[in-house]
Amino acid sequence: MTVHIGAKPGEIADTVLMPGDPYRAKWAAETFLDDAQLVNQVRGMLGFTGTWRGNRVTIHGSGMGMPSLSIYANELIRDYGAKTLIRIGSCGGMQDEVKVRDVILAMTASSVSTPSKGIFRELNFAPSADWSLLSAAAKAADGLDVGLHVGGIYSSDVFYDERPDLNEQMARHGILGVEMEAAELYTVAARHGARALAVLTVSDHLLTGEALPSDDRERSFGDMVEIALKAAFPET
Ligand code: HPA
Repeated sequence: MTVHIGAKPGEIADTVLMPGDPYRAKWAAETFLDDAQLVNQVRGMLGFTGTWRGNRVTIHGSGMGMPSLSIYANELIRDYGAKTLIRIGSCGGMQDEVKVRDVILAMTASSVSTPSKGIFRELNFAPSADWSLLSAAAKAADGLDVGLHVGGIYSSDVFYDERPDLNEQMARHGILGVEMEAAELYTVAARHGARALAVLTVSDHLLTGEALPSDDRERSFGDMVEIALKAAFPET
């Protein structure tokens, strides 16, 4: 047990999928895993461990924003020995060619700040995805009926942004979408020698104002889970 995770030693798999929402973790575990067991519910943050095609997998919520994700990613890696962490979440589209429902594989994650910023002092660390996961995810998405984009995203500290000029600069520099967790996930994973990737569904669009209807969210979320599982276990 750690401060925020009630799982016993050995109850967390090497591979962890991390949706922001704990109820999405429950849905994904019930839908995709065999023999899924609840392994954490401290503070209502649900984590489940089961198997997918014979491979052990944990699906554990991250909460919203980098400080929350950082707590879980640190404990999962440092205390439970997780080696592969894949965020499955939503993002806002920032380019014309990125449509609502499309999937973005986040090659890099820009940010104003992350919980890790203090340790870098004057250095601008470049959080980036693990190549083996990124390339396997791109291959996995190829077989699905989804619009796929691979490139840079922006991990923001705020959902209700009072600085639209920042979004404009991100869009101008080719950033595909905005979310709130990936930059810290990539940084914590890099620090501890773990692999990380963020697979993101475009749930809303900053340029058009369009938003994914709630009926479509489940299907899009399912596509992401499938891409993440196939990226983690490309041989299966
Ligand atoms: N901003 C930040 N995070 C998000 C957004 C957004 O527009 N959409 C989904 N996650």
